[in-house]
Amino acid sequence: MESMRLLSGNEMPVVGLGTWPLKGDQCKKVLKEALGLGYTHIDTAWIYDNHREIGEYLQDTQVSRGDLFITSKIGKDYVSYDDTMVQIDEILTDLQMDYVDLLLIHWPSDSVPMEETFRAFNEIHAAGKALSVGVSNFSVDQMEQANALSNAPVCVNQIKYHPSHEQREVLHWCQQRDTIVTAYSPLGKDRILDDPILGEIAGNHEKTAAHVCLKWLRQLGMIVIPKASSREHLEANLEVFDWNLSEEEMSRISAMYDA
Ligand SMILES: NC(=O)c1ccc[n+]([C@@H]2O[C@H](COP(=O)([O-])OP(=O)(O)OC[C@H]3O[C@@H](n4cnc5c(N)ncnc54)[C@H](OP(=O)(O)O)[C@@H]3O)[C@@H](O)[C@H]2O)c1
Repeated sequence: MESMRLLSGNEMPVVGLGTWPLKGDQCKKVLKEALGLGYTHIDTAWIYDNHREIGEYLQDTQVSRGDLFITSKIGKDYVSYDDTMVQIDEILTDLQMDYVDLLLIHWPSDSVPMEETFRAFNEIHAAGKALSVGVSNFSVDQMEQANALSNAPVCVNQIKYHPSHEQREVLHWCQQRDTIVTAYSPLGKDRILDDPILGEIAGNHEKTAAHVCLKWLRQLGMIVIPKASSREHLEANLEVFDWNLSEEEMSRISAMYDA
């Protein structure tokens, strides 16, 4: 799988498996299909409450840790120094891992100063419990603050991004600084897939509207983490490599947000 180099120097596969709200046996079943199809990048979070099943499944299959890219996130209400330090250990215990590839602050906090969270993140990174660090749902102002507080590069901002929900200012800011943007809900939670413009463009390439969303995000330079539970969807979401949208098609999709 193609990957992008993070500011930390680590490589992040460009398509990951979103795992919210997969749990229990269904989560393990989807992981089995996904890994079999070639997914190595798994996106989870403390709040998704599925670390234990992910850890168990990966242990059972004895997949090599070095072949995986695991992102997790510290929950919004646990970003104090003490809570963050406790939560990373819970995450690693449940995942049965010594480190996550990428640890994110899931949401900016209204109540806890960011300094506190980054004091913890700096220690977690120095201890090798997170190979790379980043944030999620951060605005430009919050990204500036985060960069000033983090000892390690803030490698990723994971934000909601799909044709009906753009965040151009923060995308531009991140890309100017080589901070990778990961698009979550890249299919608009499947609510935008019957859009006629996406359908027409999909028809030009004998693809689906889902393919078009993912390809558009990839061509804008983002990593994508679609959640899928059927084999058909998992397989389809990897079909973003050997074809391209034209500039005109890219612009038509971007115009959907302005309409
Ligand atoms: N950082 C954050 O705050 C945050 C917030 C939300 C989500 N996330 C992450 O982002 C991931 C993805 O976002 P999301 O789950 O909100 O939405 P999404 O990936 O945009 O959409 C998921 C929906 O699309 C369907 N789908 C998947 N592939 C498809 C395909 N090829 N054709 C048609 N339908 C398809 C899925 O159906 P099936 O399941 O039936 O296959 C599911 O109903 C989450 O799982 C999570 O890891 C992060």
